[in-house]
Amino acid sequence: MKIKPVRGTHDIFGEEIKKFNKIISEVKNTAQKFGFKELMTPIFESSELFKKPLGEHSDVVLKEMYTFNDRNKDEITLRPEYTTPMIRAAISNGLLNNLPAKFFGTGQMFRRERPQKGRYRQFNQINFENFGSNDFFADIEIICLANILLKNLLPDSNFTLHINSLGTRKNLEDYKKVLSKFFNDNKKFLSNESVNKINTNPLRILDSKNNEDKEIISKSPKLIDLISKTDLQNYEEIKKCLIDLDITIFEDPNLVRGLDYYCHTVFEFKTKELGSQDTLIGGGRYDGLIKTLGGKDMPGVGWAGGIERIMLLMKDVPNEESNIHIAILDPSFKIHAIKVFNFLIKNDFSVYWNYKYNLKKSLSLANENKASYLIIVGENEKINNNYSIKNLTNGKQVTVTIDKITDILK
Ligand code: HAM
Repeated sequence: MKIKPVRGTHDIFGEEIKKFNKIISEVKNTAQKFGFKELMTPIFESSELFKKPLGEHSDVVLKEMYTFNDRNKDEITLRPEYTTPMIRAAISNGLLNNLPAKFFGTGQMFRRERPQKGRYRQFNQINFENFGSNDFFADIEIICLANILLKNLLPDSNFTLHINSLGTRKNLEDYKKVLSKFFNDNKKFLSNESVNKINTNPLRILDSKNNEDKEIISKSPKLIDLISKTDLQNYEEIKKCLIDLDITIFEDPNLVRGLDYYCHTVFEFKTKELGSQDTLIGGGRYDGLIKTLGGKDMPGVGWAGGIERIMLLMKDVPNEESNIHIAILDPSFKIHAIKVFNFLIKNDFSVYWNYKYNLKKSLSLANENKASYLIIVGENEKINNNYSIKNLTNGKQVTVTIDKITDILK
C-alpha cells in the first residue's frame, strides 16, 4: 500500500527544515526584542469563531475552511488564520487586563485553496498582534517589526510595503454601498466573477486580478474621500514615520485585504520574486473585532506572514549539525566508545555515532558532513584506555586519555 500526501500538503526536511527552524528562531528573537509574548492555540476551534468575523462572503469562509462535525455533532473548523484564535485565547484566559497586550505565535493554518507555488492547503504562519492600543504608533511598531524580521531573514531580497487606510468601520460600510451602486451602474464592463460580488462583497472587486476589470476599477469612487480629516492626518503621520524608518512604501488605494475585520491602516509586504503568490506578510487594524468575539471594546492591530513563502526566498542555512564524529573500528569496541560518547554529551558537545565500524567509511562520512573532529576508537585505544582524535581541518592526530579531550576539542 502506497499512500500519497494529501493534495496541497507538504513535508519539510533537509535544507528546508533548516530554513524553517531559522525562521522560528528569528521570530522568537525579534518578538523578545519588541516585548511580544508567545501564545499557542489549538489547531481547531468552534466554526463560529471564524464564520462571521472573517466575513460570510469572504473566500476563506465561503470556499476554503475545513469544517466538520465531531462525534458530539459540534461544528469544528481547522483554523484558517491565527488572529481570531489569539483573541479567543486572550479572552478565555483573561490576558487582556493590562493593555496593550502584545502576543505572537507560529503554527499551521488550513485553507482549501487551489495549490500552486507558495500556496498550500496546510501552511505555516507567523502572527503578531497588539491588542488594546489606539495609538497610531502601534501600527508603526508592528510594521517596523515585520520589516526588521524580513530584512534579517531575506537580506538579498527586495520587498515593498503596500499600504492603505480604510477609515472607520462606518466609512467602510458607507463605501460598500457607494461601490455597489457604482459597479451596478457599470456592470457591463466587469468580468462575470466580479459581477457576482457586486452586492455581497464589492470591496473584493477592487483587488481583482482580472484584466477586464482593471479599467473600470481605476474609475471607481475612492474610499479616501469618505475618511475624516483626523483619521487622514493619522494616516499621513504613519506614512511619514515609516519613511523615516527607511521603509519603502507604496500607497495602494485599492488594497482592502481578504478578511472582513479590517479598518484604518491595512498593509502588505510584497515581492516580485515569487510570481502570483507575492504577498509575504499581510495585516492591519481591526478595531471592533475583539468586542465581536465577546471581549471589551478595544482596538487591535497585527499581521501574519507565510513561512513557506519566506522559505522560497531564503538562501541555504549553513550546517550546524553535529561536528564531532566517532569512528568505532569494530563493534567489540562499543563499550569503550560509549564512555567517550557519554563524556562528550555531558560536556555539551554534539556527537555523531555513524554505525559504520570502519575507518575509511567513517572518515569519508565525517568529511562529507563537514565534521571538525573524528574520534577513533580502535584496539590500541581500548587496550590503553585512551582515544585518538583527528583534527579534520589540519589532519593532525593525537592520542589522549578521556580527561584531556575537552582541552583538544576547544
Ligand atoms: P492573510 O492575508 O489571509 O492574513 O494571510 C497572511 C499571509 O499568510 C499571506 O500574506 C501569505 O504569506 C500567507 N498565506 C495565506 N494563505 C496561504 C496559503 N494558502 N499558502 C501559503 N501561505 C499562505 C491573515 O491571515 C490575517 N490573520 C493577518 C492578520 C493578523 N491581520 C491582523 N493580524
